Amino acid sequence: ELQTAIAAVETLEALETLRVGALGKKGRVSELMRGLGRMSPEERRTAGPALNGLKEDVAEAIAARRLTLEDAALDKRLADEAIDVSLPVRERAEGSLHPISQVMDEVAEIFAALGFDIAEGPDLETDFYNFTALNIPEEHPARQMHDTFYLHPDADGHRKVLRTHTSPVQIRTMERVQPPIRVIAPGRTFRSDSDATHTPMFHQVEGLAIDTDIHLGHLKGTLEAFLKAFFEISSVTLRFRPSYFPFTEPSMEVDVQCSFEGGTVKIGDGNDWLEVLGSGVVNRKVLEACGLDPDTYQGWAFGCGIDRLAMLKYGMNDLRAFFDADLRWLKHYGFKA
Ligand code: PHE
Repeated sequence: ELQTAIAAVETLEALETLRVGALGKKGRVSELMRGLGRMSPEERRTAGPALNGLKEDVAEAIAARRLTLEDAALDKRLADEAIDVSLPVRERAEGSLHPISQVMDEVAEIFAALGFDIAEGPDLETDFYNFTALNIPEEHPARQMHDTFYLHPDADGHRKVLRTHTSPVQIRTMERVQPPIRVIAPGRTFRSDSDATHTPMFHQVEGLAIDTDIHLGHLKGTLEAFLKAFFEISSVTLRFRPSYFPFTEPSMEVDVQCSFEGGTVKIGDGNDWLEVLGSGVVNRKVLEACGLDPDTYQGWAFGCGIDRLAMLKYGMNDLRAFFDADLRWLKHYGFKA
């Protein structure tokens, strides 16, 4: 009867109840064992071994059943916890690099390969670095041209400005390090201006090379190497147009040859010209303001709009979209990090 019951038990708990009911202190088999004491020696001689055998058989059967049930329980757990690797993965909301960050990285990488370090300066500049040291004194008309954002004057009457260009980093660099200097300074710039091609906050990259034997041939070669690498083209034709910046003399604006076909701009060749940057030979007065002897050192600088470069390279047409923070636009144009 016990063997049948043991074989029919389906859970470890029920098996334990059954074991206590048979072999426990008050169990049925224990009860029978106790009965041995009341038997005559003859009866005991036959009943003793029989009951011991029963006790052993029952204990054995319970142990075997326990093993079977434990195995089954483990199998079930393994089956329940199995991972179905064929299930589709849950989609993760992944960020991406803003096109401007991506372009800044690309620009930095190209110039690094040409031997240029990265220099930085604050977005919030003093009047001295943004204007005066760059040969733009108080009352100079160029100050009006910059549509400057001024902060409230401090206790001493000094007004800080949101830098209108990255050129103040030229000054900070020449004050800090002795030539030879080859740096680029990418960063944010600000002017009070807003339409499809202007945003109050935009980005520039400044370039500066100072040494004892630097000339405009180096500027031309550097810009050609940069533009070819950036636009991934094998040749580029540049046009240097005379211009005016107080901090360079002579000054020139640089155009790249391009074509406009079906509303898209192709850089490299064609019948049109597109202005990409301002440049020039660093003005002697600027070198002097930085404590460099203009009879020993000379060099050139350029300043280039990064947002414009990004629009040209990736075929975007409204500058304002860069700063609208529209997730659909960012998903479309963002770059996986
Ligand atoms: N800072 C000038 C601008 O923002 C560009 C420039 C930089 C011109 C360096 C000459 C040399 O327009």
